[in-house]
Amino acid sequence: MDKMLVRGGRRLNGEVSTSGAKNSALKMLFASLLAEGRHVFHNVPELQDIISSAQLLESLNCSVERKGKTLIVDVKKPGSFEAHYDLVRKMRASILCLGPLLAKYGQAQVSLPGGCAIGSRPIDLHLQGMKAMGAEIELHQGYVHAKAGSASGRLQGASILFEFATVGGTENVMMAATLAEGVTIIENAAKEPEIVDLANYLNKMGAKIEGAGTAIIRVTGVEKLTPAEHEVVPDRIEAGTLLIAGAITGGEVTVKKCVPEHLDALILKMRESGFTIDTEKTSMTVRPCKEWKGVDVSTAPHPGFPTDLQAQFMTLMTVAQGTSVITETVFENRFMHVTELARLGADITPKARVAVVRGKPGLLEGAPVMATDLRASASLVLAGLVAKNETLVNRIYHLDRGYEALEAKLSSLGADIKRLKE
Ligand code: EPZ
Repeated sequence: MDKMLVRGGRRLNGEVSTSGAKNSALKMLFASLLAEGRHVFHNVPELQDIISSAQLLESLNCSVERKGKTLIVDVKKPGSFEAHYDLVRKMRASILCLGPLLAKYGQAQVSLPGGCAIGSRPIDLHLQGMKAMGAEIELHQGYVHAKAGSASGRLQGASILFEFATVGGTENVMMAATLAEGVTIIENAAKEPEIVDLANYLNKMGAKIEGAGTAIIRVTGVEKLTPAEHEVVPDRIEAGTLLIAGAITGGEVTVKKCVPEHLDALILKMRESGFTIDTEKTSMTVRPCKEWKGVDVSTAPHPGFPTDLQAQFMTLMTVAQGTSVITETVFENRFMHVTELARLGADITPKARVAVVRGKPGLLEGAPVMATDLRASASLVLAGLVAKNETLVNRIYHLDRGYEALEAKLSSLGADIKRLKE
């Protein structure tokens, strides 16, 4: 397992570009199952999770070819409609092939993803949505067995109200509804930019989706979709992580090829903390700041503060002046970075979903730490950038699932960071 060695104390400066959004590209790859033929995706990041989804598509008889940042997926009718446990357990987003398979072929068998490091993460809301559209669902031997119940073999349009604005649930139902008979209304839909991106791609395929990005999505089912070409939206979480990297080192960093509008909540909180951030349409710059203050943050579905930036923001707060209270409302167990940050000297008291961070400039000191999930890993790398001496981040395969060439990007800004291969 590779490790990352970071020598702290270098001020980052310069420009860096954002890659395509993992959490958008993944869903599109699964959505391609809705139309046989050749789909072309641009700006697809080279990440382990993308490789895992390509493997799942290949197991469903598709062929996937990468040419630089472009991924070409040739979709053919699968021999079986199963997403196997071995693939789903590597990447829980695999559950997102349920909606497309069920809508297109009237059946699917998808392994249950199980829990993960950040919580139990059930898929009950996905299944409720499919059932509302007439699917017959049984759970046995660790698999979801789903069938379109109607005589026509097609799902039926329905009104679905999510009790929580679930990202994956919204996406799964939205994809399934594109080929359903009739109109589907999703209420309390998640509004993340990746959902809008997915809807844009589906509409290019001939779907009729309105309202993506708002709390009410309306999908008028069509009989057939056709393959399409699409450029994946920039990764807002990577962009936010790079902005915090510049900020925490007191440097001046411009993050290019991003959509600052997607990061309003982060920018608001960073400004409140004392940073100057200038935004253009597709770039944002954090200006040098010597001292910033602790501010309170509570995560929430978009457009609220993203849970996927909570750990990185917490690191920023460990070296702020004063106390901040960080509340995680989306996941039940997303504070695993706290004990690792404490190994670097951070003063944090976590209790259930609230962490009190007593920040102090210059507080962190390098030590070996363990990455526990993707965003926690990023928070430890950020901590390493400002900690005295060396920080060795173990188990960075988590990082490789979601950040494309992070060490190269940080090095290009002047960080002293290198990957140790094992
Ligand atoms: C997506 O996960 C992202 N993953 C996550 O990013 C992100 O943290 C999350 O949305 C929230 O923004 C991908 O896009 C692949 P949810 P998802 O359904 O779809 C509960 C990262 O680091 N819930 O909105 O799984 C669930 O347990 C990852 O890139 C149910 O109870 O998120 C959680 O507490 C991590 N029942 C909350 O809702 C359900 O059926 C939010 O989950 C579904 C969800």
